[in-house]
Amino acid sequence: MRMYDIIRKKRDHSTLNASEIDYWIQNYVQGQIPDYQSAAMLMACYLNGLDEREMLFLTQSMVASGEKMDLSAITGIKVDKHSTGGVGDKTTLVFAPLMAALGFKVAKMSGRGLGHTGGTLDKVASLPGFHDDFYGQDFLDLVQNNGLAIIGQSKELVPADKLLYALRDVTATVDSIPLIAASIMSKKIAMSSDILILDVKFGNGAFMKTPEKAVELAQAMVEIGLESDIKTAAIISNMESPLGNCIGNSLELYEAVQTLRGQGPDDLSKLTLVLVKEVLSMAGKKQELEKAEEYIKNGFACEKLLQFLQAQGADISSLHKEAKFPLASYQIRCLADESGFVRSLPAEQVGMLAMRLGAGRQKKEDKIDPLAGIVLLKKPGDWVEKGEPLAIIHTNHEDLGQKAAIDLQKIFGIADEKPVLPPMIYGTVSESGVVIDGYK
Ligand code: URA
Repeated sequence: MRMYDIIRKKRDHSTLNASEIDYWIQNYVQGQIPDYQSAAMLMACYLNGLDEREMLFLTQSMVASGEKMDLSAITGIKVDKHSTGGVGDKTTLVFAPLMAALGFKVAKMSGRGLGHTGGTLDKVASLPGFHDDFYGQDFLDLVQNNGLAIIGQSKELVPADKLLYALRDVTATVDSIPLIAASIMSKKIAMSSDILILDVKFGNGAFMKTPEKAVELAQAMVEIGLESDIKTAAIISNMESPLGNCIGNSLELYEAVQTLRGQGPDDLSKLTLVLVKEVLSMAGKKQELEKAEEYIKNGFACEKLLQFLQAQGADISSLHKEAKFPLASYQIRCLADESGFVRSLPAEQVGMLAMRLGAGRQKKEDKIDPLAGIVLLKKPGDWVEKGEPLAIIHTNHEDLGQKAAIDLQKIFGIADEKPVLPPMIYGTVSESGVVIDGYK
């Protein structure tokens, strides 16, 4: 077999078989195939697509490039969640403790934020002492004892994805549905949970700009999950504007805590409960949804979050009910320069602004400021009076904050008419097919 022939085959719209795809992936990971041939192959896949079988073969081959996590020693139903990324997306920090409170086990490998999107690890690492470097039995013990553990990306799991993603990043081949589906699902399959819930986002702040494209990506991933014996479903959710009110790592952690105490923003609470409901349905435990609501009311779900954070070394004193939550040195108000309804608040621009404040990274090596961020006081659909605050900028650099307040004011779209807003949830993709419920 020669890499040249495999590239030519895909270039000419032919379908690749499992051994051709495996030849590419394994030899690339072992350094036998140069970057320029893999780059050409990625572009051929990007332009001509992969069918369902090819996508599955690519995913399986990527999984086989490394080790698989063995969770079999953990008792109970193992659940994993993945979001395709967004601004203000702290859903994992509400969802995972809630699932742990319900008796499920969540063994989660999470990433750090890059560009306008945040990462769960940065949010939990905003607490002093938190660490994510647990391996082998230590990680399994954490999951078993606390119902939940979050670790960083492991070098041993799916090394092919790390190499391919870096190459896609510089060859304009990231936004391809088959390549994204194989990249995400290879990591999920390597984690070997029983149930996987995907939060596939669409809109301004998401990879997929339209709900139809998000459904297409969700269908590809759900198909791969089911073929790999993982009960998989996807919720298609809106990322036109940020999720919740807080953007920035420690602010988002605080908002997750508040949501687990029943005092969170409606969109975040609703999305989390929709994800929980879908998992309960896959587990045949639909009747337990009431318990989830009860565990929010009686504080048990919040205790689960604190228990997990403490078990991973975090100082949780600032998260206790009566404690004072640490804030950045400056809180600068962003004021409305006219009265009207907030018509739009594009997530990507808000995320980029938060990144410039230090809440995110432009490059992987950049350091973040855990206290930097934005608290939104107005969201699309809200009325604002001229001179009223739209948001508060949290920063340790006054000049940066003053400039951000001016820039943020321009990002808010204000109109005379109350806008008709698309629903938070567009639909569900599962074994039973696609249900578009949001737009009825
Ligand atoms: N997230 C991933 O893990 N992979 C992609 O290709 C895109 C988003």
